[in-house]
This record gives sequence, structure tokens and C-alpha cells, in this order.
Amino acid sequence: MDACADRRALLFAQRSIGRYATRQKQYIPDSVMSERTQVAIIGAGPAGLLLGQLLHRQGIEAVILEARGRDYVEARIRAGVLEQGTMEVLREAGVGERMDREGLRHGGIYLCFDGTLHHIPMSELTHGRAVMIYGQTEVVKDLIAARLADGGPLRFECADVAIDGLDADEPTVRYTHKGVEHELRCDIVAGCDGFHGVSRTVIPDDVLQVWGRDYPYAWLGILADVAPSTDELIYAHSDRGFALHSMRSPTLSRLYVQVDPDEDITDWPDDRIWSELHERLASPGWELTEGPVLEKSITPMRSFVAAPMRYRSLVLAGDAAHIVPPTGAKGLNLAVADVTLLAHALADHLRAGSDAALQDYSDGCLRRVWRAQHFSWWMTTMLHRDPGDDEYGRQLQRSQLAYVTSSAAAATSLAENYVGLPLDQTAMAAGGTVSRG
Ligand code: APR
Ligand code: PHB
Repeated sequence: MDACADRRALLFAQRSIGRYATRQKQYIPDSVMSERTQVAIIGAGPAGLLLGQLLHRQGIEAVILEARGRDYVEARIRAGVLEQGTMEVLREAGVGERMDREGLRHGGIYLCFDGTLHHIPMSELTHGRAVMIYGQTEVVKDLIAARLADGGPLRFECADVAIDGLDADEPTVRYTHKGVEHELRCDIVAGCDGFHGVSRTVIPDDVLQVWGRDYPYAWLGILADVAPSTDELIYAHSDRGFALHSMRSPTLSRLYVQVDPDEDITDWPDDRIWSELHERLASPGWELTEGPVLEKSITPMRSFVAAPMRYRSLVLAGDAAHIVPPTGAKGLNLAVADVTLLAHALADHLRAGSDAALQDYSDGCLRRVWRAQHFSWWMTTMLHRDPGDDEYGRQLQRSQLAYVTSSAAAATSLAENYVGLPLDQTAMAAGGTVSRG
């Protein structure tokens, strides 16, 4: 965005529009701050922030509206595995510098079961592709810093965000900021407001289709002030339930244990967590080092897909349209894939007047989304202990784990999904033949 366009986007025009809004049936007072932009982005998570960044680099104006405060958004601890394609997008977007300096590049993972550690050499199996361990929190901080440095409009603590006029030529997003009511007129509304946001809810019930699954377990995660006890992530299947040893830096470890979904965190003092981690991650000759617990939280496990991801001039991206359980570390990566396609589609639409990419946006995203849904569900059900399962089910899990760790074909399938299939392979091609390249 050039300086003039930026000033235009920031310039509020005070308009007198005392009337009743038809959809919300609420009275709109006489004094509303009104402005116009090309894309109104709702939500400053990774999806909304990266979309703002990609659009900015294409000279497209956007205003980002976030319900929470900056401190909250920058402190939220989430997963931390970036696919190869995600790293490339962040670099191309000009926000990869700290990731490349501080991130930990990993070419493999361990699967642990029946007390044995098995290495999956992902890079060897995928022509050198890898993942980067770099916290989502850090990605968000980098994107916020870039947005503010560019002077791009980013408003925190926006209340009562509501979308209006999707049936008209010019949609409007209404919100309250610092006690003042605002309306933001735009060409496109990008709903990047996560699973609990408002954007998805404005798509009529007879248009929106949803699919999903809740799992009978959750993850209790800790951030520990101790050097990781492993060189690669360890995903462990045990009779006591799943455990994961991940990391954030050479001095910070991130660990998870499977717990019941309605578990009370106060029933899990640090000693109990470490004791479970020792039991579930145990393998001969390997030792887990404990350290002070800096943060502790429980995350439910859910799979969810909503379609279509475009309705009139509203587009959805990221968790607003789909959720995966964290076992395959796909949540952030899917959000990045969505907004990469979306930024191209919006540039074609707003700058070249071509609608083909925008028309294909929903189907293009959903092909990748369903692949990641299957992979995440598969990793989750293979590794967790389902309290409702019987001994037959547990034998199937063991057989699958033995196969994945002994067959090059099965390990390659895990590896290529984990490091991330190329964007064009999942987004563009609806069909196709097996590639041997
Ligand atoms: N108005 C404005 N902002 C909102 C509203 C609203 N009504 N509702 C929610 N938000 C904000 C949230 O506060 C949050 O900051 O939208 C943002 C959505 O961000 P995320 O939940 O992080 O979702 P997304 O950007 O799609 O990122 C997906 O992040 O949530 C993880 O596991 C997920 O890794 C995945 C990735
Ligand atoms: C994490 O480091 O938080 C993490 C790593 C791998 C996962 C999920 C979360 O599959």
C-alpha cells in the first residue's frame, strides 16, 4: 500500500446515518465513524495477519479488526511446527528472517510404542523436505511487527463485530472501538476469526454444510524451562495414553499428555504431569529431564470442516472454516495455505477484474483441507488410547504403528503428509496420477 492509499484507508469520514439496520434490527445512532477499504479482515490470528501482509505486498488495502488486545494475541501459546511450504510463504511474505535465525529445522520424528523408539527420516523420504520448529506465537509476533512497521491498519479490542450487506454491492463490517461505533465498507470481507468467530455464522443454514468429530480425549500441555531431552519430536503411544515431547528452543521444552476431555487442570500438579511423561515416553537408554513448568493448559481435540469457504463477498480462512486435532500439527499450516490461495485470488479479482481464482477458492482449499483432515484423524486415532476401545482396536493400532515404522512406503506416506504436500498438488489437482519423481 502506498502512503496515499494508507492515509485514505485510515481517514475516517463522519457520516450521519441514523436508521435501523435491516439484518440486526438495531438502531444505528446518528454518529458513526465510516471508512472504506478493499478487504475487511476479521481476526488477527495467523490467518488474518498473514492475509493482511500478503495483500499489502500486492498493493491491496485491508483493515484488520481483532476482538482481543495485542498482549493477549501475542501471549497465546499454540503449536509450533511449520511445514516446508509454510516456511517458504513466510519468507516470501518478508517475515521469515527471525524464523530462519531462531527456528529449529527438523528432518525427522520419532514414534515410540511398546517401549521402543523408531525414527522416521522424513527428509530422506521426501527429497529433502523438512519442518521448522518455531512457535505460532512467534509467527504472530513477527506478523504484527511487520504490519505496524508498514503502518497497515490493525485494530485490537474491537467489540460487537457484525457483517452486513453481503447481498448488496458493498458489504459492511460494523464494530465498536474504544466506545465509538464504526462501519467499514469494503469489496470483500475475509472471515479469519477462528472457530468461535462471527463470520461463519452469517452464511445461511441452507447453504452451509458442516462435518465434524469430537474425540474422547484432550491434551494437557506444558511449557518447561529445560533443554529438550530429544533431538527430534517424540510421538508416544502407550497403554497409559498418548504423550508428545516437542520443543520451542534449545532451552525450552513443550510436552503434552493425553487426558480426559473434562479433566480439571487443578488435578494435575507438576509432579503428576512429569510422572506420566516419564511413564509414557519411556524407552531403554533414554531419559527425560524435568524443569520448572512455565505454562499449563488443556486443549480439546476436534475435527471440523465447513463448506463452502466463500459465500457472496465473504470468504473464510483458517480455523473459521476448519479445525484439526493437533497430532499432525496441521492447524497453522492449513491457515497459511488458505490465505496464500486467497491473496492470489483477491489480487486477480481486485486488480485484474478476473474472478476465476476466487470462484475456485473454496474447492481449491477444501481439497487440501480434507487431505489434512484425514492425516490428522489418522495420526490421532493411531496414537491415542480411546477409553471406549477394546483389545481388538488396540491390536489394530499396534499393527499400524509396526507397519509405519517398518515399511518405506508407509513411512513415506506419513513423512510427505507431515512435511506438507506441495500446495499445487492438493489445491489445484482434483485428480491425477501417481508421481514417481
Ligand atoms: N471479531 C474480531 N476478532 C475475532 C472475533 C470477532 N468476533 N472472534 C474471534 N476473533 C479473533 C480471535 O481473537 C483470534 O485472534 O480471531 C482470531 C482468530 O485466530 P485463530 O484462532 O488463531 O485462527 P486462525 O488465524 O485461523 O489460525 C489458525 O491458529 O487457532 C490456531 O490451531 C489453530 O493453528 C491454528 C491456527
Ligand atoms: C508443539 O510443539 O506445540 C506441537 C508439536 C507437534 C504437534 C503438536 C504440537 O503435533
